[in-house]
Amino acid sequence: MTTTAPKKKLFIRTYGCQMNVYDSSRMTDVLAPLGYEPAADPEGADMVVLNTCHIREKASEKVFSELGRLRSLKTENQQDGRDMIIAVAGCVAQAEGEFILQRAPYVDIVLGPQTYHRLPEMVARAERASAENRGGTGKPGAPRPGVGVLDTEFPVEPKFDHLPMPSASGPSAFLSVQEGCDKFCTFCVVPYTRGAEYSRPAAQVLAEARKLVAEGARELTLLGQNVNAYHGDSADGAVWGLGRLIRELAEIDGLARIRYTTSHPRDLDDDLIRAHAEVPQLMPFLHLPVQSGSDKILRAMNRGHTGADYRAKVERLRALAPDLALSSDFIVGFPHESDADFEDTMALVRDVGFIQAYSFKYSPRPGTPAAVMEAQVPEEVKSVRLTALQALLLEQQGAFNQSCLGREMDILLDRPGRHDGQMLGRSPYMQPVHVAGSEDLYGQVVRVRISSVTANSLTGTLI
Ligand code: 5AD
Ligand code: SF4
Repeated sequence: MTTTAPKKKLFIRTYGCQMNVYDSSRMTDVLAPLGYEPAADPEGADMVVLNTCHIREKASEKVFSELGRLRSLKTENQQDGRDMIIAVAGCVAQAEGEFILQRAPYVDIVLGPQTYHRLPEMVARAERASAENRGGTGKPGAPRPGVGVLDTEFPVEPKFDHLPMPSASGPSAFLSVQEGCDKFCTFCVVPYTRGAEYSRPAAQVLAEARKLVAEGARELTLLGQNVNAYHGDSADGAVWGLGRLIRELAEIDGLARIRYTTSHPRDLDDDLIRAHAEVPQLMPFLHLPVQSGSDKILRAMNRGHTGADYRAKVERLRALAPDLALSSDFIVGFPHESDADFEDTMALVRDVGFIQAYSFKYSPRPGTPAAVMEAQVPEEVKSVRLTALQALLLEQQGAFNQSCLGREMDILLDRPGRHDGQMLGRSPYMQPVHVAGSEDLYGQVVRVRISSVTANSLTGTLI
């Protein structure tokens, strides 16, 4: 007699950055052998994971209110005689840890970003606790203090050694090459929640890249909190920087495009800059967060570079790779930011020019040095500055999109469009591009001429 384990529904809600999107897909991979299959919504799911992000404001409160909603769904499941395992993962889990189990005792698992390779064991423990609870006096939805599984250690063994190799799920795939951060910008939680900087060995990265390409990936985005701090051991005994890694990846047949995110100006070394000129597969679009244009504020942020350093790196990049376009992150209203400091940011934006950007009001994160700095900037001032900055950034984005009209570009078609006979893809600059063409073009890089432009996307005609 053969038995197949009944399939279980897994719903993962992902907050935050691409790193979290990547982590969520890896959690799906490690749970698949336990019979968990991805579900589109949490209703009736056997397991729900909230993969949280601590970067945004009020992250913890949002997690707790989402947990409140999940609690009702869990109770509904239990009334049907089934449980729902609720897990909180990611940076809020790392930061809040035990507190989540105390405040929301119906949560079964709290795990940090460095421990999800141990999820199968955690799930087994949670399932056992759940079965014992059902056998006992526990009423549906009743708190079960003390049974929650907490695993937020930073492991001695890197989790990548214990994860199955991921599979390419389309023409564009992510590849995590680096994690954590030792930079300790004074506003940021990442060094605390994600732990110390770690680079995966080059051979491991290359093997994963070859597998993804063999499975149909045409584009790889190398991921890391500080991806250009990459310094991976290689088989030849040398330590490779990101530039070297990119050159080696470019040798893989069938790999058309390479990107990396997110990078730090300090780690943009000369070899990486030259790679932008010398490696045709490396896309001419770079996300290079600057945060502020004021040297006083950059110092208070502990960024380790000045506005002039940033401009000099951009100048060198553009001298070698003239078609390179930039994106960035900005924080307005950092403690002590005066009108003049903010003007320095506006001036930097005007001088450098960005085709896309993320900008935020500074918001204090408990435990970070900036949170206790004096001279916090009033909310109204932050709002006024953010509006001005975003208007300028949007103007630059619009102008760049307009400048694409009539241009020829290579587009990687990675999705069907909304209408029949239409495909959607990405330009070298990450702009979404609609192209009239059949579905057999899926996964191909096609040459198009840009025929129309809207605020957020382009339309191209096959050449
Ligand atoms: N307040 C506002 N923005 C922040 N970021 C990180 N921490 C904070 C904070 N405390 C922004 C930075 C970073 C991006 C990922 O999020 O701009 O580059
Ligand atoms: Fe945070 Fe700064 Fe590290 Fe980026 S470099 S992850 S902003 S501490």
